[in-house]
Amino acid sequence: MVKIAPSILSADFANLERDIHRIADADYVHVDVMDGVFVPNISIGIPVVASIRKVTDMPLDVHLMIVEPVRYVEQFCDAGADLVTVHVEADTQENIRAAIDKIHAKGKRAGIVLKPKTPAAAAEPFLQDVELILVMTVEPGFGGQKFMADQMEKVAALRRLIDEKNPACELEVDGGVAPDTCRACIAAGANVLVAGSAVYKAADIPARIAELRG
Ligand code: DX5
Ligand code: ZN
Repeated sequence: MVKIAPSILSADFANLERDIHRIADADYVHVDVMDGVFVPNISIGIPVVASIRKVTDMPLDVHLMIVEPVRYVEQFCDAGADLVTVHVEADTQENIRAAIDKIHAKGKRAGIVLKPKTPAAAAEPFLQDVELILVMTVEPGFGGQKFMADQMEKVAALRRLIDEKNPACELEVDGGVAPDTCRACIAAGANVLVAGSAVYKAADIPARIAELRG
C-alpha cells in the first residue's frame, strides 16, 4: 500500500502536538529542516524534532535541506529521527556517503534527495546504500507550490533502478502532492507521498489521507 507522509511545514507550529495527532492515520511524520542557505527559507531544527519525538510513536521522516548535512545528521538521529534524508546537491559525494554512514551507525534509516534539476543518475552511486530515495516535485524551500509533472519520468527511471538493484528501497515524492496529482506519482512508481498543504488544509484530514493513497 502507498504510504502517506504529511509535512508538518503546513501545520500550526503553536499547536504542533494537536496537528501531529491529527495525522495519526498516516505512515510517517515528514519534518522539513531548512537552513536559509541550501534553500531560501528557515524552518525548524533539532530541539523541535526532540519535542515531536515525545508526543508521537509515528516514524519521523526528517528531510534535511541544509548544506553539509554530515555535520548534523547524528544530532537529528539522537533527537529521535527514524529516517534522515540528505540532498545529494548539499555536499561532495564523499561527504554525502559519510552522512549516510553516520545515520546507519546510529541504527537509523538513511535516504538521499534529488532536487528537480538533478538527474536520476545522481542517485546511482548511493542506490545500494540507502533505504529511501526522495524525488522533489517542487523546488525545495516552501510548501504550497505547483506540482512538477515533468519529474514523473525521473520517478519511473528510479523505480526501474530500485527494482533491479535494491528492491527494498522506498521511493518518495515531495511537493505539490494533492488528490489530483497523487495518482501520477503512484503510477510512476512512488510508494511514499509527502503532502503538506493538501493534508493540513483539508476539512477532513483522515479522509484526505485515505484519498491520497490513490
Ligand atoms: C518543500 C518541502 C515539502 C513541503 C511540501 O521544500 O520539502 O515537504 O512541505 O508542501 P506541499 O505538499 O504543500 O507542496
Ligand atoms: Zn520535505
